[in-house]
Amino acid sequence: MYGRRDVLRTGAALGLMAASPWLYAESAPGLLTRKIPASGEALPVIGAGTSGSFEVEPGSAQYQQLQQVLKAFFEGGGKVIDTSPNYGGADAILGQLLEEGRWHRQCFIATKIAADSAAAAQEQWAGTLKSLRTDKVDLLQIHNLRDWQRQLPYARELKAQGKTRYVGITHYLASGQDDVTEIVRKEPLDFIQINYSVNAPDAAKTLLPLCHDKGVAVLINRTFDDGRLFAKVKDQPLPGWAAEAGISSWAQMFLKFAISHPAVTTVIPATGRPDRQLDQLKAGLAPLLSEAQQQALIRQFA
Ligand SMILES: NC(=O)c1ccc[n+]([C@@H]2O[C@H](COP(=O)([O-])OP(=O)(O)OC[C@H]3O[C@@H](n4cnc5c(N)ncnc54)[C@H](OP(=O)(O)O)[C@@H]3O)[C@@H](O)[C@H]2O)c1
Repeated sequence: MYGRRDVLRTGAALGLMAASPWLYAESAPGLLTRKIPASGEALPVIGAGTSGSFEVEPGSAQYQQLQQVLKAFFEGGGKVIDTSPNYGGADAILGQLLEEGRWHRQCFIATKIAADSAAAAQEQWAGTLKSLRTDKVDLLQIHNLRDWQRQLPYARELKAQGKTRYVGITHYLASGQDDVTEIVRKEPLDFIQINYSVNAPDAAKTLLPLCHDKGVAVLINRTFDDGRLFAKVKDQPLPGWAAEAGISSWAQMFLKFAISHPAVTTVIPATGRPDRQLDQLKAGLAPLLSEAQQQALIRQFA
């Protein structure tokens, strides 16, 4: 839940954003949003991932923590949650949590096809709907470009049937971004999902500007380098300018770096801890980082 101080800060943020209404909008209670170019639909800039953090046993102590994570997420204005049928049961845990919390209608569900044949993809899709406890999703992505020439047309077929509202492709390494760039150049896509972080900022050179120009929405994974960035900043103070950027933790710093690129729609950090979820949501409040602040971070983590 947001405290009074956050609400006051949000009010101040509203004033700041009046200067650039074409780029940013507000979603209650104060998270910045970005529009999906294909539709104009606004999404909050802070989303959530499920890899690892949602791979828990139903009813376990970690499961109960995830109930609190999602409560904090939705009450804090979050919407986009990314999962996959090959995340060790994370999608089924997400489906159960959404049903128990009655959050399906608030959630923008992004999931994937990770299969190598038409038959495998069809079977997987049936399982996905069952796991997520829904009859449709919001975004269906081809996982790591796997068999994408066959699976992208299948995802489009499902879109035409109203089973998904958007289609996209994903990768998680800088080494995969040349292939992603090639596909963005020649295929119409609603979304891509890629890695982008202070220690892996390559996407800003070509791929992110290309998505901006072509009107492709962008989800960002591995903003914490799968958690490794926290070990790098252990015992390190935040930069002196953090407070003026509205930042009080390294998690907020890493997330704000990602959403400060104007081509980025939503960043999807994973956590299984409610306190971390609350902290992450604070990164979605204005102001964003200046170009100089972004470059200082890239130099620090190079
Ligand atoms: N190819 C693909 O399509 C692809 C590939 C990779 C990821 N993804 C998606 O992107 C999401 C995010 O990527 P990711 O999960 O690989 O990496 P990430 O978001 O960079 O890092 C997640 C890790 O950071 C830890 N963490 C979070 N906040 C922390 C804090 N304040 N201090 C210390 N540790 C913290 C989490 O542990 P706790 O749970 O203990 O907080 C978790 O282990 C995934 O969950 C998935 O949905 C997609």
